Amino acid sequence: MKGLILSGGAGTRLRPITHTSAKQLVPIANKPILFYGIEDMVAAGILEIGIIIGDTGDEIREAVGDGSRFGADVTYIPQAAPLGLAHCVLIARDFLGDDDFVMYLGDNMLQQGLTEFVEQFASARAEGGDDIPAAQILLAHVDDPRQFGVAAVNEAGEVLELVEKPENPPSDLALVGIYLFDPSIHEAVASIAPSDRGELEITDAIQWLITNGRHVRHEVLHGWWIDTGKKDPLLECNRLVLETIETRNDGEVDEASDIQGRVVIAPGAEVVNSRVRGPVVIGERTRVVNSYVGPFTSIAADCEIIDSELDHSVVLNESRIVGIDRLTDSLVGRHVEVTRSDTRPHAVRLMLGDHSMVEIA
Ligand code: DAU
Repeated sequence: MKGLILSGGAGTRLRPITHTSAKQLVPIANKPILFYGIEDMVAAGILEIGIIIGDTGDEIREAVGDGSRFGADVTYIPQAAPLGLAHCVLIARDFLGDDDFVMYLGDNMLQQGLTEFVEQFASARAEGGDDIPAAQILLAHVDDPRQFGVAAVNEAGEVLELVEKPENPPSDLALVGIYLFDPSIHEAVASIAPSDRGELEITDAIQWLITNGRHVRHEVLHGWWIDTGKKDPLLECNRLVLETIETRNDGEVDEASDIQGRVVIAPGAEVVNSRVRGPVVIGERTRVVNSYVGPFTSIAADCEIIDSELDHSVVLNESRIVGIDRLTDSLVGRHVEVTRSDTRPHAVRLMLGDHSMVEIA
């Protein structure tokens, strides 16, 4: 079995802080989202991985390399424009050959990993009979299905219909961004037309399989799943992953500091006269001085947190937070400075990038 990870589609659909970089590389507990997907594949025994790349391809290549550090062999497949998830399968045809494969949307994260999902598909196919599945989808109950692909499933557990982001959803079962296919998906993606939003939808390709009499298996997800493209899901995902970290101190903590709970301090990081209450991760060479870092905070590499208090936040590389009393529920991008000023007039002074959002008390 092969793996196909989709990390293209940049340009038009990026969200806050990631508008100049790949959203799939935003760190969760200081590890890029995309790496969790690659590691899940390797854990499921899938070592030949194709990665679809778009505008942010160079950044993805630099971060992932040839895959050897994950024990995988990575092939990059450039996509000229984000023409849809089924378009990704079309352009990956040579890489995929006639193998079964798992397709993984690079901004999705799920708790349960891939192993069970892959084994279920393999054993259903090995059983043979009339009902050999051509595809397997993963579904999750969600509050607002209109933002997702949605499945209608009958009482016997058959998938009857799939629709992409419907106004009137037939159920609350959303398609999670992880799919298993046999080679018949290639005929499906070649047979469908672009949707109203101009994309070749994988949802339509799976619907094509159903319409053409193929069996599509489904599983309903247990454990959490997050489409990390937005701020709040991202912070929530960070919180869920931080729940699972183990304490490790490879940096330096001075005697005046107090570390409580599960805290990871990376090599070269320094905590001086500060209190850190986990779960927290502090990245390489980051300095925390005269500060409080509270639960569910990830601070990436080369940051400075000085005379400040923050919790439930994600801070990306090379940012400085100085003299800030209380920062919470925040996502701070790369190379950002948040500082206190005594200059008159007392006012908030901002330089915000596109799509920024600031709440001021
Ligand atoms: O997250 C689950 C949802 O993902 C499903 O419920 C939907 O059925 C499915 O269509 C998809 O919807 P999104 O609107 O969230 O997909 P998005 O455009 O965000 O793309 C998902 C990933 O695929 C993202 O990492 C970018 C990449 N991508 C996307 C497109 C459209 C590509 O690599 N190439 C593309 O052409």
